[in-house]
Formats: sequence, C-alpha cells, structure tokens
Amino acid sequence: MGVLSDDLKARIRAVLPKYPRKQAATLPALHLVHDQLRTVSNEAVVEIAEILDLHPSEVFDAMTFYAFYKGEGERLGKTRLWVCRGLACMLRGAYELIEHCEAKLGVHCGQTTPDGAVTLEFAECIGACDGAPACLRDDVHVMDVTPEKADELIQELRRK
Ligand code: FES
Repeated sequence: MGVLSDDLKARIRAVLPKYPRKQAATLPALHLVHDQLRTVSNEAVVEIAEILDLHPSEVFDAMTFYAFYKGEGERLGKTRLWVCRGLACMLRGAYELIEHCEAKLGVHCGQTTPDGAVTLEFAECIGACDGAPACLRDDVHVMDVTPEKADELIQELRRK
C-alpha cells in the first residue's frame, strides 16, 4: 500500500495526455500530490516516478530544484501564507509585516505552526504590487495588508 491513493494516481494519469512525453508531466504530478498530501515524501516520489516511467531521482531532481515543494519530513499547514517582500512591498513595510506575522504565529518563515494551521513563507513579488504590501493565502491575493488585517487573517486561518 503506497502513499498515493487510487484517486490521486488516476488524477495524475488523467493529465498525461496533455503532454508530449510523460516526463513533461512531472511538475503537474508533483503539484497534485503536494496539494493533496501537503508534502511529497520519498515514497510519493517513487510512486510518481512509476506512473511517469522515470527513475525516482529524476522526479526528485525536478522537485528539489524548486523551493516550492515540501519534501520528506516537511509538511505544509492547512493554509500556506506567503508574505511578499519584493521591492514594492518592501518599500511599504513588508519586512515589518513579516516580523509581525512571525511573532503572531510563533514561527519563522518556512515553518508551520504547531497546530498545523499555517505555513508562513516569504515570496519575491507575487504580482500584486498595486496592493503592496501583499500576501498570498494559498492561491488568493490579499492586498494592502496592515498588521491589523494580518491579525484578522491569522485568526481566521486558525479557526479553519
Ligand atoms: S513586490 Fe510585492 S507584489 Fe510585487
């Protein structure tokens, strides 16, 4: 019994026809696994490789090229909260906002709260400079984030 459910394997197989070669589906497959399991363990890497007819090292290489994926021994919280520290956001208080969020959540960027609710990250420009300082709540932009707004957001995420 592996770590990928039959449903998850089927969803990976379903994206294969969109690509000229199975290898080209490595990142989409990693995303599917990462989204559902909140991590890509070594066992998951092996199972993805089996589906894609690759050596596990090829999947592992692709995964570890990007800091985006959490691997063996790491796990995302229910929500991934990115605080942008790109230039526009930095000029409008992003560093202070990051410190504020770290203090409020009791973790540093890259870490997950002990209750598993939130993984805090920093990002470099999330394409929302007109709403600086900006955050990403998973895939959703949150604009003009003040410390007060961040507190409300964090409270909401902890209740989720
Ligand atoms: S610099 Fe933060 S969104 Fe662009």
